[in-house]
Parts: sequence; structure tokens; C-alpha cells
Amino acid sequence: MHDDLKEVLLTEEVIQSICKDLGMQLTKDYQNKPLVCIGILKGSIMFMTDLIKRIDTHLSIDFMDVSSYHGGIESTGEVQILKDLSSSIEGKDVLIIEDILETGTTLKSITELLESRRVNSLEIVTLLDKPNRRKANIEAKYVGKKIPDEFVVGYGLDYKELYRNLPYIGTLKPEIYAK
Ligand code: IMP
Ligand code: MG
Repeated sequence: MHDDLKEVLLTEEVIQSICKDLGMQLTKDYQNKPLVCIGILKGSIMFMTDLIKRIDTHLSIDFMDVSSYHGGIESTGEVQILKDLSSSIEGKDVLIIEDILETGTTLKSITELLESRRVNSLEIVTLLDKPNRRKANIEAKYVGKKIPDEFVVGYGLDYKELYRNLPYIGTLKPEIYAK
């Protein structure tokens, strides 16, 4: 375990078994539909690469990067697009791949934006879900694991852009935040 971590919440083995289960379910649900998987940068990169290996169907991938304005007027849930999709998703079956669903502000804005592009269907898969933190009216159809309201890092998730490279997910020691 990395020195800065307090404890490991999800081991590599647990993460892989989650990816396998979700992959089986998605393979079944999208058998006859060409799927477009959209990874939300940067947090979803590891989950996306492991998950899509487990989806046995025709699929393409694309990426989107957004920055959310969490402060200010709560209800608008505005996001700024830092990187948009490379191809049109009109008429496509789209799956958003996210690392973690917390307040839901980010995903709410992204889904509204993508739905306005006249997709055939739009669903969300998230590796982690913190349901107790939800503010926006949004849920993911596919959830890897529900976790308590604790800040986690690793496997794509960062604290100040660090720890994304850890192959597992854990919580940080309190002194790391005090720095
Ligand atoms: P939301 O808009 O509050 O749902 O924010 C979701 C985004 O916040 C995620 O895509 C992550 O980038 C970030 N985030 C939320 N919780 C955590 C966490 O525990 N660790 C690292 N990043 C997090
Ligand atoms: Mg993110």
C-alpha cells in the first residue's frame, strides 16, 4: 500500500471482478446495438480501459473533458466543456463511463448536453457511487460499488492530480490534507 494511504477500500482483485460483472451485464444489454462509450476525463481512464475489455459487442470510444462550477447558483449545474467529442452521437446508443458519482452536478449537466444531441439512448456506468452526497436528480443505471461519504483516491481518482496511477482505491491519511 502507498505510504500516503490510510486504508485500501477496493483491491485490484475486487475492481477487476466489478469490471467483469458490469461487462457481462453490458454485453447482454447492448448485444444488438452498436455502442458508443464516452469516458469522462481524466478520472475514468483506468475504469474505462478495464471495463471495455469485458464488453463483448461492437463498440467505439470517445472522450469528453469538462470542468464543473460547483459554487454559485446551485440549480444551474453549469459545466464548461474543455474537450468535446470527436464524432457525432446523433441516433447512437451512448454509455457514459464515470469514475465516481457524488453530488451528480457534473453528470447531470453532461447528460442534458448529450441528450440534446438526439441520441437513441443514454445510460451511465459509474465505478463508485456516493449516494449520500447527491444533490442533483440523477442516478446511474450501472453502479460498480456504493461507498460511504469518504474521499477516495487511486485507479484514476486524484487528490490534487496525484494518486491516479495507483492500481487500487483507498483513503488518504489525514495529514496529507493538512499539507
Ligand atoms: P459530482 O459532480 O459532485 O458528482 O462530482 C463528481 C466528480 O468529482 C468526479 O468525477 C470526480 O472527479 C470528483 N470526485 C468526487 N468524489 C471524489 C473522491 O472521493 N475522490 C476523487 N474525486 C472525487
Ligand atoms: Mg471526474
